[in-house]
Amino acid sequence: MAQGGVSILSLGEMGPGVTEALVAEGFVVHATSTRPLAEILAAHAAEIRGVMTRGQVPVDAALLARLPALEMVANFGVGFDSVDVAAAAARGVVVSNTPEVLDDEVADFTVGLLLATIRQLPQADRHARGGHWERGAFPLSGTLRGRTVGMLGMGRIGQAIARRIAAFDVPVVYHARHAVEGVTWRHYPTLLGMAEAVDTLVAIVPGGPATRHLINAEVLAALGPDGVVVNVARGSVMDEDALIAALRSGKLHAAGLDVFADEPRIRPELLALGNVVAVPHVGSATHHTRGRMAALVAENVRSWFAGRGLVTPVEA
Ligand code: NAP
Ligand code: 8YV
Repeated sequence: MAQGGVSILSLGEMGPGVTEALVAEGFVVHATSTRPLAEILAAHAAEIRGVMTRGQVPVDAALLARLPALEMVANFGVGFDSVDVAAAAARGVVVSNTPEVLDDEVADFTVGLLLATIRQLPQADRHARGGHWERGAFPLSGTLRGRTVGMLGMGRIGQAIARRIAAFDVPVVYHARHAVEGVTWRHYPTLLGMAEAVDTLVAIVPGGPATRHLINAEVLAALGPDGVVVNVARGSVMDEDALIAALRSGKLHAAGLDVFADEPRIRPELLALGNVVAVPHVGSATHHTRGRMAALVAENVRSWFAGRGLVTPVEA
């Protein structure tokens, strides 16, 4: 359906075919991938009615104030911590995200990162490629056997991860603020209480002020010297100073990190550590799943401007 020239600001690359599809339907898309944001705002701020964002540029009160005609923000990603939802609501602006379409992909990936971290797959790959095998076998690694995995977060993705880990015959427990109805894994009301009872921590909670530095020095120490932490949540959830200190001193065995405090920059101290597996926020980054996320972003834009409301609204 033609959208009579509704103007959309696209913050970052929105994924396969989204801009093209919306333009073909009559939307006017101003994309920061082709023109600087300041230039777009100077020329078009007054007419922009929708924003699509993939999280690198904060959609905060300051940006919202520049966009007087804004009606909706479509977030490319289930985590929407870069959007100030309260400030948007205060201006009558609604927000959507991309839940569910990525659950299995991120869960598959998380198990891969957990195993890669414990079994040191990237390090072993470097050993093979570096020609070191001829001079000696790769050292023995840690194991998933005998571990207990504590999940920080037991939402849509957390449950998909926990099911997979349980299929490896590894006990799973979790911490979230509330026990989840129908979930039989043991719930710990505090993160520290859980960290004292497990040796492996997998974080899959939202970012933002409520979860900032939840994984701190005390929690890392409680995991013990065999402790392994995997963060696929947000970089802000981890106190990176505490993590670096624990990994350096041998108070923590290893870390698998998909997310970082200052993306796309990764602290050199983390990259210098042999017991860190670091990947550049790729949990959902497959053609299949990014395509599904992109389609859902476009569907939210389309649906809103056709007067049908958002498909996957974020609660304000
Ligand atoms: P969800 O269904 O909303 O689940 C969130 C879970 O976190 C719930 O169990 C929630 O339980 C818990 N939680 C929230 N605030 C908490 C707090 N302050 N303390 C302890 N637990 C808390 O979300 P989801 O779809 O599973 O996604 C979770 C997050 O994963 C996203 O927001 C995003 O940040 C991250 N993510 C990362 C990637 C990646 O590529 N690395 C991909 C997708 C998602 P309670 O409310 O009971 O506390
Ligand atoms: C995306 C994510 O990589 O959905 C999320 O919360 O973190 C990832 O799936 C990200 O949102 C797109 O930049």
